[in-house]
Amino acid sequence: MSRQWQLREAFGLDNLELRTGEPTAGPGRGQIAVRIRACSLNYRDLLIVRGEYDPRMKVPFVPLSDGAGEVVAVGEGVDEWKVGDRVLGCFAPRWQGGEATKERLRYARGTPTAGGMLAELVVADADGWVPTPDHLSDEQAATLPCAAVTAWNALEGVRAGQTVLVQGTGGVAIAALQLAQLKGARVIVTSSQQAKRERAEGLGAWKTLDYTEDTEWGKTVAGLGGADRVIEVGGAGTVNQSLRAVRVGGQVAIIGILAGVKADIALTKVLMNGVSLRGIMVGSREDFLQMNRAIAAHEMEPVVDRVFAMDEVPDAFAYLARGAHFGKVCIRVS
Ligand SMILES: NC(=O)c1ccc[n+]([C@@H]2O[C@H](COP(=O)([O-])OP(=O)(O)OC[C@H]3O[C@@H](n4cnc5c(N)ncnc54)[C@H](OP(=O)(O)O)[C@@H]3O)[C@@H](O)[C@H]2O)c1
Repeated sequence: MSRQWQLREAFGLDNLELRTGEPTAGPGRGQIAVRIRACSLNYRDLLIVRGEYDPRMKVPFVPLSDGAGEVVAVGEGVDEWKVGDRVLGCFAPRWQGGEATKERLRYARGTPTAGGMLAELVVADADGWVPTPDHLSDEQAATLPCAAVTAWNALEGVRAGQTVLVQGTGGVAIAALQLAQLKGARVIVTSSQQAKRERAEGLGAWKTLDYTEDTEWGKTVAGLGGADRVIEVGGAGTVNQSLRAVRVGGQVAIIGILAGVKADIALTKVLMNGVSLRGIMVGSREDFLQMNRAIAAHEMEPVVDRVFAMDEVPDAFAYLARGAHFGKVCIRVS
C-alpha cells in the first residue's frame, strides 16, 4: 500500500485528501519507480491548490512539483539508473535542454499533465530525473527542482564581482542569494523582517534593506552603484523599483508575482538605460544538471526552514501562505 495526497473534488486547501491506495503498477519500458523521501513546497503549488494558477486544471491530481527519493524498480530498457540511486524529479521532464517550447513547458510536474510528487511512490519516465548531489539530505535536495533551478537560470551570465539584487527571503530568493555567491557576485537582499535580514547577512549578503520602510529602495540600490541583475519575484508591486535599481545595461529577471500581476511599467527607464527584461520559466534538465555540479563542487547547503510530516500537509501550506519562512518549507514523505 502507498499513500498520496490528492486534490480531490475541487480546488482549495480543504479539498486536499491523504489517500491510501493499492501499490501503483511497476515501471513500464523506459520508466523508473521512485520511493519519494521528501518534497518541498513552492508558492506556485499554493496557487495551484487554491485554483489561482490555472482554474481550468482538472481534479483529481497529486500536487507538488518537487520531490527527492530513491529508485526502487527499473523498467526495461533503462540503463541510466539502478535500484538504490538517489534522484530528484525535473520540474518540466520533457524539457531536456535547449530552448523552452510550449510543448516542453506544458508537461510540468505538480499539475494534471505530469502529476505531482506528494506521494510515497512515483512511477515516471527515466529521463525526467537527475542524480541527487551526494552531500545533500533528501529535504535539502527536495528544495532544488523549481526554486533553485529558476534562480540558477535567472543568474545566467552573472560574473564574479557583479552585484545581484534579491527580493525577499522565500525559496527562489534564498537560492539566488546562495547561487549568486557561488558565482562570486555580491548580493543585496530586501526583506520586511529584521530577523530575516540578519539571517541573510549570516549567509553572506553584502547589504540588506527593509522594503516596507525604504519604499524607494530602487533609488537606494542605485546609490550603491546599481544592480547588474535583479531577481524580480514581487511582480507588479516591485518592478518599477527594480527598474530604478538596475544599472545601465543590466538585466531584470522577471520571475514572480508575489505583489501582483499587472503593472504600469516605466518603459522610458527600460529603453533609455538599455535594460533587458527577461522572463524566466524554471529551467531544463540540462540547467538542473549544471546547477547541481556547481552545488556539489562548493558543497552548497540549501536552506530548509521547516520540515512537516506527511500527515501535516495542509498545515505546511498554511505556514507557507503566512510568509513567515526563510528559504524552503519541506515535507518528510517516507
Ligand atoms: N517563473 C518561474 O519559473 C518561477 C519559479 C519559481 C517561483 N516563481 C514565482 O516566484 C515568486 C516567489 O516564489 P517562492 O516560491 O520563492 O515564494 P515564497 O517562498 O513564498 O516567498 C515568500 C517571500 O517573498 C517575499 N515577498 C513577498 N512580497 C514581497 C514584496 N512585495 N517585495 C519583496 N519580497 C516580497 C517575502 O519575504 P520577506 O518575508 O523577507 O519580506 C516572503 O516571505 C512567486 O510568485 C512564484 O510563483 C516563478
